Amino acid sequence: MTAPVFIALDFPDAASAQAFLVPFRDLPEQPAVKVGMELFYAAGPAFVRELRQQGFTVFLDLKLYDIPNTVGHAVARLAQLDVQYLTIHAAGGTKMLQQAVANKGADMKILAVTQLTSFSEADMQATQQTPLSMADSVQHLAKLAYAAGVDGTISAPGEAALIQAVTADDFLRITPGIRLAGDAADDQARITTPKVARQSGATGLVVGRSITKAHTPVAAYQRVMAEWGNEA
Ligand code: C5P
Repeated sequence: MTAPVFIALDFPDAASAQAFLVPFRDLPEQPAVKVGMELFYAAGPAFVRELRQQGFTVFLDLKLYDIPNTVGHAVARLAQLDVQYLTIHAAGGTKMLQQAVANKGADMKILAVTQLTSFSEADMQATQQTPLSMADSVQHLAKLAYAAGVDGTISAPGEAALIQAVTADDFLRITPGIRLAGDAADDQARITTPKVARQSGATGLVVGRSITKAHTPVAAYQRVMAEWGNEA
């Protein structure tokens, strides 16, 4: 399957996101975009429908985490928006993951978050009162998600190979923390280039500021796609 490069639409409202996307309309194929909590809570389902009508592949990064019944119903509602990707916390457990998978749309992939990359190993151990290393915990949660029928994970690039080792080659491994060579790291502690991410076992990328803050965002997107191995 074609590996997606998602542009993270980290904008405060629909108008600024749409203004950013205008120059992309000239491309033969519309890019895939990631809508996170900030934009979804501001612009809502109507904006997501608009993106779908305009031909964008949509990844809703809402990181669902609640009781299985509630998550199942939430996924069913989101499936009506015809989005292709949705995130959920693996820590919600097997039943929650299974309910999500059972209610997803036909063309929808569920991606599990294992451990938030904002956690250091020490933070995670203290918060979750576990002696497990970060690598062991990530692998445990990835296995749980895989066994529940989830389609893949979203993780730091350095975790992609660990996840691949305990799941399957066709289990999706989408990684943020991507920068084109020469760009500022901003607040990302560990960054990597599209090429290195692919070599590390990633099957898809999330790229925000390297594209959204570029002087010419379409050209930056095309550079990412070329480095990743797809021409835009
Ligand atoms: O601008 P930048 O490329 O750093 O944006 C990365 C995007 O990926 C943001 O939307 C951020 O919220 C998201 N993300 C991340 N690290 C994670 C999960 C998601 O940076 N572990």
